[in-house]
Amino acid sequence: MIIKKNGLGGDDRALEIIIQGKKKLNGEIEISSSKNAILPIIAASILTDEKIIINKVPDIKDVAIITQIIKELGSQVEQKEKQLLFQNIALENYPPYELVRQMRASFLLMGPLLTRYGNVRLSLPGGCAIGNRPIDLHLKGFHAMGADISFRGGDVIARAKQLKGQHIYLDYPSVGATENIIMAAILAEGTTYIENAALEPEIVDLANFINKMGGIISGAGSNVIKIQGVKKLYAAEYTPIPDRIEAGTYMLAVAASGGQALIKNIIPEHLKAISAKLEESGAEIIEGNNHLIIKREANIKPIYIKTLPYPGFPTDMQAQFMAYLSYANGSSVISESVFENRFMHVQELLRMGADIKIEGKTAIIKGKKELTGAHVHATDLRAGAALIIAGLAANGKTIVSGNEHIRRGYENISQKLNALGANIQEL
Ligand code: EPZ
Repeated sequence: MIIKKNGLGGDDRALEIIIQGKKKLNGEIEISSSKNAILPIIAASILTDEKIIINKVPDIKDVAIITQIIKELGSQVEQKEKQLLFQNIALENYPPYELVRQMRASFLLMGPLLTRYGNVRLSLPGGCAIGNRPIDLHLKGFHAMGADISFRGGDVIARAKQLKGQHIYLDYPSVGATENIIMAAILAEGTTYIENAALEPEIVDLANFINKMGGIISGAGSNVIKIQGVKKLYAAEYTPIPDRIEAGTYMLAVAASGGQALIKNIIPEHLKAISAKLEESGAEIIEGNNHLIIKREANIKPIYIKTLPYPGFPTDMQAQFMAYLSYANGSSVISESVFENRFMHVQELLRMGADIKIEGKTAIIKGKKELTGAHVHATDLRAGAALIIAGLAANGKTIVSGNEHIRRGYENISQKLNALGANIQEL
């Protein structure tokens, strides 16, 4: 249930996950809609006062948070099964701090609120476990389009009577900055070009959704995106793409366990880097047009991974691969080039007996035959997923605390894995 009368959706009841290890996973699993596609799409629903319907909404905490924020701004929000309906007539433009501070992606509300209402006040997103997460590129885009930006008491305030289309060059292909600038530019006067834009599939999905509302965006998925400002956007219904990181996470769980599974509701194109690295490590993958079969029987071969912006290897899969490579037959190297501190899961894997050394932004993982279950803590949702993967293949029982992080982005993870033969309980 996404929207609860009081408080957020996504049940926080279970704060610990207990995994009995050494279970080969077999069976089939259905992937949910992409968290990182649906968050900007829900933010973009603010761009119109007409009805927006979003289908196949996953029951995850981050969706509950952004939905709650828009509801508190005055949106009429309705849920019918897995469908969310938004009608954003006249929203306030100061999202509540208490909710905004819980999720960095709340900052995606800035672009739509600024371009629709001409001024917005939003608390600066805090850093998080994986790094300080600046927003300078978002603000550079808004400023280029004519917004006055100021800071007051931990908030950032943006004002603009009418944003103007501009050529905006991103120093780094930031996913969030690309999304925020697209949403600000679509109701601006004139045409905006974003150069060195992020290429992630979630950007393409956002552009497709806005075009369905009557927007005119071209080039999404390439590094130059053209946004022609329009006067008004209209009602639309949309189903987001499947979650490529959720899919990759389950592929790794199956491969780590030495089992075989059918992964349904995927777009293989989005998984190219993940599948390539899994095959390099000795897993076998047979692709269909919206599903794939993954199995791993041979020993896990050590590999080299460097995380990069899409279509390079995704940073959101780095922790999960490190758990998997902790069981490899030899030493692997993982270099994290996107975030400055995304090795928090290493300490926890060491508690399970993994042999990992960190040198700056590089980790050297000396694979071992066995790891031993332990009490470990999830610092962010992908680290949590990594610890579950390590626990599935480990000897004995692993207890993962910090489940509230995992629930942010994985719908029914214990049920989905137990359906494949895992033995996971939620305390
Ligand atoms: C999105 O975060 C994803 N979140 C992240 O997924 C993902 O890890 C990240 O993109 C990279 O792929 C959502 O889509 C909701 P960025 P975002 O802006 O937009 C620097 C998960 O696990 N940067 O591409 O915040 C920044 O410091 C989450 O689902 C600036 O310097 O990522 C970082 O080093 C974790 N200035 C790099 O760019 C800015 O203004 C990538 O950040 C913005 C970003």
